[in-house]
Amino acid sequence: MLKVLVCVSGGGTNLQAVIDSIKDGRIKNAEIVRVISNNKNAYALERAKENGIPGTCVSPKDYGCREDFHKAFLDALREDAPDLIVLAGFLVVLPEEMIREYKNRIINIHPSLIPSFCGTGYYGLKVHEKVLERGVKITGATVHFVDEGTDTGPIIAQKPVQVNEDDTPKILQKRVMEEAEWVILPQAIDWIANGMVEVKEGRCRVLA
Ligand code: GRF
Repeated sequence: MLKVLVCVSGGGTNLQAVIDSIKDGRIKNAEIVRVISNNKNAYALERAKENGIPGTCVSPKDYGCREDFHKAFLDALREDAPDLIVLAGFLVVLPEEMIREYKNRIINIHPSLIPSFCGTGYYGLKVHEKVLERGVKITGATVHFVDEGTDTGPIIAQKPVQVNEDDTPKILQKRVMEEAEWVILPQAIDWIANGMVEVKEGRCRVLA
């Protein structure tokens, strides 16, 4: 059974998609052991509570310096000895020590088709604003392993989404979530939980 720990900062709709997918069997051999948020008001913590999943808030605001926050965050992670850490809208830069310790065991959902519209400053609604500004006709979402860079780790899954002429950033964000994020994040977790993903020379292969 893959022990999954989910890190969140906001509404938690991706967390909800994972919870629902475990319940309905789209994700097999995995369980969410804890949800950790840097934001005590994150509705994602409420979703965890409603589903009987332990929730913890580790906020940088509660620590005098970044190092103390990193230590508290790492201690909280290690307590559950997770096999996989899922960043589902987690807006905190991870400590390098954590990325080393959990090499190819941290995944992130990004709301574009990497390598487009990603990297520093590209998160949340900003991604969709830039997509519309550029006028691309297809966007989508990506699940990737987290490495030392920003949105640069090996890509596990992607799903395209049509951009419509009358889209606003909010309308587009909702479509990307519904049609792509909430589909490929559970899919990637199921593949990992069932030993179907291997990483070689910085690229993922899914052993379907
Ligand atoms: C999603 O759009 C995700 O792609 C991005 O942050 C947002 C999180 O939304 N990384 P939610 O908290 O899962 O609703």
